[in-house]
Amino acid sequence: MRQPVGKLLLFGATGDLAQRMLLPSLYGLHADGLLPEGLTITGTARHAYDDAAYREFAKTALEEHLPSDRDESALAGFLERLQFHSMDASQVEGFKGLAEKLGDISGGLAIFLSTAPWLFAPTIKGLEAAGLAGANVRIGLEKPLGNDLKSSREINDLVALAFPEERTFRIDHYLGKETVQNILALRFGNAMFEPIWNARGIDHVQITVSETVGLEGRAGYYDDVGALRDMVQNHMLQLLALIAMEPPARFDGTAIRDEKVKVLRSLRPIGPAEVQSETVIGQYRDGAVNGEIVRGYTDELEKPSNTETFVAVKAHVDSWRWQGVPFYLRTGKRLAGRQSEISIQFKPVPHSIFAERGGQLQPNTLVIRLQPEEYIRLLVMAKEPGLDREGIRLREVPLDLSLTTAFANTRRRIAYERLLLDLIEGDPTLFVRRDEVEAQWEWIDGIRAGWKANDMKPKPYASGSWGPSASVGLTERDGVTWNE
Ligand code: BG6
Repeated sequence: MRQPVGKLLLFGATGDLAQRMLLPSLYGLHADGLLPEGLTITGTARHAYDDAAYREFAKTALEEHLPSDRDESALAGFLERLQFHSMDASQVEGFKGLAEKLGDISGGLAIFLSTAPWLFAPTIKGLEAAGLAGANVRIGLEKPLGNDLKSSREINDLVALAFPEERTFRIDHYLGKETVQNILALRFGNAMFEPIWNARGIDHVQITVSETVGLEGRAGYYDDVGALRDMVQNHMLQLLALIAMEPPARFDGTAIRDEKVKVLRSLRPIGPAEVQSETVIGQYRDGAVNGEIVRGYTDELEKPSNTETFVAVKAHVDSWRWQGVPFYLRTGKRLAGRQSEISIQFKPVPHSIFAERGGQLQPNTLVIRLQPEEYIRLLVMAKEPGLDREGIRLREVPLDLSLTTAFANTRRRIAYERLLLDLIEGDPTLFVRRDEVEAQWEWIDGIRAGWKANDMKPKPYASGSWGPSASVGLTERDGVTWNE
């Protein structure tokens, strides 16, 4: 049941995420009249700000990250909602002052926690000690939530001491993206896909999340994590689960997450015997991205490293529906372009009547493009206009659903707008349940153990390329080409 809260508390309120995403998202919700009336937003961090200084800080962040989208009177109203409490979250004593600053929370409190992992334990303890973990308080947790199954369990256990699962909202910002939610609309709002959405109709699935950025000043975090844990463990496995899941009975957090977790638990383990053939890892060297010369990973890092900045995996879901259908996943930094998409390659027609007349058929492909553009495109065969004296010419043409054009009058929202509003209102559907996270980690840990056992090191690739050539080999040996 949705139950909007009266107060929002942001930990890490001066951090990068707050500046780039959270404050702009909250402003957007405020400007559209979507935040509960009277909702106050309390930021906390170690900075010695008072309310006025934090409002100034937020204003600057909005100027930088929402340059054209601001309305001065909405901005003034938004800033009035903000207040700030300076504290060191590692010290339990400080939470008493925070509770005082928040005042009466009988109208409900939503907490958004985006802090360094080592602050998790003291923060949860502090919240509990200060009476900020009661039945009307819910908590949103931003990653990283551990770096393997064991540490993720520890964090989940710790959080569970103060917040039961139904009040714990684990964030995967990919689930806030409009096109990701559109996977559900496409699959379960249209009758034509489901009958062929299985091993009989689909040859393989590709999921690519390629980025052009490098370390972006996050060396401390990224070098300990790498591409598999930064992107595959969470975002890409969630995409895979949405593509592969059985139709849920209803649109709610239980039904949808029950189906996703079944997929995640059905991922075929990839271990020491399989990693060499089923996974490829790479690390970028110098090169040029979008015409700009960039340094290699270890130069940026200023030390040697075996962390992978690229990973490609051939995954399988062991179920009746997906038997024999590979899911090729790949993601990396400093690649040739920023492109996130899911491409579903259907099987060829069982018999071509065009072959004798020279007509060549391509199997259909459905492309779900998440970014930078948002579209769904079905590639279908069509006859080229003409009298066909020299044979029938067939060509693949796109049936295009450009979401940007079809919904041109609707503002494209930041993923966090959706997630923050759902947190404030208490709708868990687009948040990740504990069993999902743990199933994700279990599969990822197996791959990492396999890399370790085989002493696998990342292969170099030039910045601005599509990753190491071995990643091409991963699909080509199955007769599949990456969609680029
Ligand atoms: C984050 C990763 O979770 O997702 C980053 O930590 C990555 O490394 C980012 O750049 C990608 O998100 P998006 O929304 O830009 O595709």
